Amino acid sequence: MPKIVISTFSIPSEVLEEIYGRGARECPSPNEQLKLVFSQERPFDLVELEQLLESVGWNRRPIRRVRRALDNSLLKIGLWRHDPKYPRLIGFVRCTGDGILDATVWDLAVHPLYQGTGLGKQLMSYTLELLRIMGVEKVTLFADPGVVSFYEKQGWILEPKGHRCAFWYAT
Ligand SMILES: CC(C)(COP(=O)(O)OP(=O)(O)OC[C@H]1O[C@@H](n2cnc3c(N)ncnc32)[C@H](O)[C@@H]1OP(=O)(O)O)[C@@H](O)C(=O)NCCC(=O)NCCS
Repeated sequence: MPKIVISTFSIPSEVLEEIYGRGARECPSPNEQLKLVFSQERPFDLVELEQLLESVGWNRRPIRRVRRALDNSLLKIGLWRHDPKYPRLIGFVRCTGDGILDATVWDLAVHPLYQGTGLGKQLMSYTLELLRIMGVEKVTLFADPGVVSFYEKQGWILEPKGHRCAFWYAT
């Protein structure tokens, strides 16, 4: 895995805020030329978001429903490849929950071109940092089967063999 570097030429804070909103933070990058930013406030182009999720193999969802899901989410975090004119969305995660006791992580994705360089791990760690600041006490997620060890490596506790987990699907 390429070493994560923090570029010596960081994006000025006023530029960060103007393009990515309040609280935006530069994300350590695997490549000195590549500037990456976490943002909770930069609005998503929902077509771009769905293209990102499609690029990792997920089915497209109706844009109107995605918009409502985002509106109702506790946190939605974009990982952007910085460009002063055309920032590109290369990673995403969102959480639902009450923001006090519980939260659930959904839709974690890093574009395939950028996978394997530590960005998924950083996106999760940034998300948990924000949830911790909110005071959330318990975070859950439903991992795709091929990704369970990604979470396990980061200290997530696996649900013990169907003893505590239940699902209901509308279809
Ligand atoms: C899962 C995903 C977000 C990981 O992002 P990433 O940027 O490639 O992961 P990282 O480079 O941060 O990997 C961190 C560590 O997890 C490991 N890892 C990455 N993907 C993994 C996987 N699918 N299974 C097991 N381990 C994995 C890495 O090898 C690395 O290990 P290390 O710390 O020992 O070197 C990304 O692969 C992705 O978007 N996948 C498709 C969508 C998806 O499945 N999302 C999760 C839904 S539950």
